[in-house]
Amino acid sequence: MKAVVAGASGGIGQPLSLLLKICPLIDELSLYDVVNTPGVAMDLSHISTPAKVTGFLPKDDGMKNAFTGADVVVIPAGIPRKPGMTRDDLFKINAGIVRDLIKGVAEHCPKAFVLIISNPVNSTVPIAAEVLKGAGVFDPKKLFGVTTLDVVRAETFVAAVTGAKDPSKCKIPVIGGHSGETIVPLFSQSEPKADIPEDKLNDLTYRVQFGGDEVVKAKEGAGSATLSMAFAGYRFAEKIIKAVNGESGIVETTYIYLPGVEGGDEIAKETGCDYFSVPVELGPEGAKKAHNVVSLANDYEKKLLEACYKGLKGNIEKGIEFVKNPP
Ligand code: NAD
Ligand code: LMR
Repeated sequence: MKAVVAGASGGIGQPLSLLLKICPLIDELSLYDVVNTPGVAMDLSHISTPAKVTGFLPKDDGMKNAFTGADVVVIPAGIPRKPGMTRDDLFKINAGIVRDLIKGVAEHCPKAFVLIISNPVNSTVPIAAEVLKGAGVFDPKKLFGVTTLDVVRAETFVAAVTGAKDPSKCKIPVIGGHSGETIVPLFSQSEPKADIPEDKLNDLTYRVQFGGDEVVKAKEGAGSATLSMAFAGYRFAEKIIKAVNGESGIVETTYIYLPGVEGGDEIAKETGCDYFSVPVELGPEGAKKAHNVVSLANDYEKKLLEACYKGLKGNIEKGIEFVKNPP
């Protein structure tokens, strides 16, 4: 199992690479970034776990050497938000970064599972899909927008209200996209059922939708969530690796191209969005089945979903346009 982190020297990239280095399921860890990867790789390589770590920069065919033979490519490359910015404000710079990295994936490891963390995820995943389509190597079962942090936050914030001892024991689908109102927690579908007092529901929903802003504000200009994102990115990557290794029954919420995945057409029809985050069963080929939790939403959640569809459609279109008609 060869895993690549593209953007490995950054705030997310470093702790995520650390977690991947200590994962016993990984044999080779390849770090790619435009700066500092030799140092980060040397540092990690002293850890006494089996994964062999190498670091690459763009020079000397670095991308080719980093990506060739990859099974999983995780992409946290790109600039983060500062206070006052939306994720969409990152599009100008990050769209091109993701496009170019995905061109590298298409060329050097077209069969790899690709996990996109770079914001705005609502648009960067459609960008990746269009680039892969253009290169004739798009497999919708293998492209994922990482929205796990929204689920992790929901688990944490709900436990803070209900007093549950282990937050991760309550499964909460957080669906839609990954920005503000496009993030829709379906507390009604939590398992076991979370007992959320009526008067706490609005605040809890807002906290999940705008949890990223809490971190951006607290960091006062020094970036956005990095450590919780590394945890979430690792959680998702580990699930993909376990599913590829044959473990069954793994379900995680992730942002996918619906028409390419079993069960996805129905959700695309219902939402009017081709890209959407839903709980997805994972298998050896990647996304095996999309679960339609959209149709289970209660009236409160249906209203949230209406706002989600509106915002998300524009974000998706913007990503597709960026590749079809480059600025
Ligand atoms: P950062 O600035 O600390 O790190 C980004 C890294 O990307 C840097 O090391 C930079 O050198 C590298 N990079 C830039 N251009 C590159 C290229 N062309 N090829 C390879 N590497 C390149 O930022 P961060 O805090 O790690 O955040 C990274 C991205 O993740 C941001 O866009 C942020 O908004 C996003 N993010 C997403 C989620 C999510 O839930 N999906 C959560 C947190 C952050
Ligand atoms: C998050 O949800 O923490 C990330 O998308 C980073 C951000 O800009 O808020």
